[in-house]
Amino acid sequence: MAALTTLLDEHQTLRPFLGRLRTAAETGTDDEIGQAVAAAERALCQDLDRHIDLEDHEFFPEIADLLHASIVEPFVEDHRAIEQARDALYLQTAQGDDLRRKCITLCSLLESHLLREEEMLFPMYRSAQA
Ligand SMILES: [Fe+2]
Ligand SMILES: [Fe+2]
Repeated sequence: MAALTTLLDEHQTLRPFLGRLRTAAETGTDDEIGQAVAAAERALCQDLDRHIDLEDHEFFPEIADLLHASIVEPFVEDHRAIEQARDALYLQTAQGDDLRRKCITLCSLLESHLLREEEMLFPMYRSAQA
């Protein structure tokens, strides 16, 4: 259960960066988007990689053992899509509408993923452990 607390804390740490990025991408200037992208870099790169690694290699296998592998598969697929969208934002140069689209795509994937983990996957894990 300790891992679950860590994962939830990390979701909460990530959310303000996503909020700022989405707001900048939807209504901000190009400069504001650039600043939001830069401010979120550590959270969306090193920290997110570590979070995903913990889920893919420790937490999800435990859930698969407790319940069924098919339960975690969609979440693993989400991780690959999130990494791809994140790399598209940070490893490629983009400007204007293209940059805004990349930010919004990444925010949407992550916001939905975090919510589904918290509202579906984590409660299933808690119930299976109880
Ligand atoms: Fe995840
Ligand atoms: Fe997560």
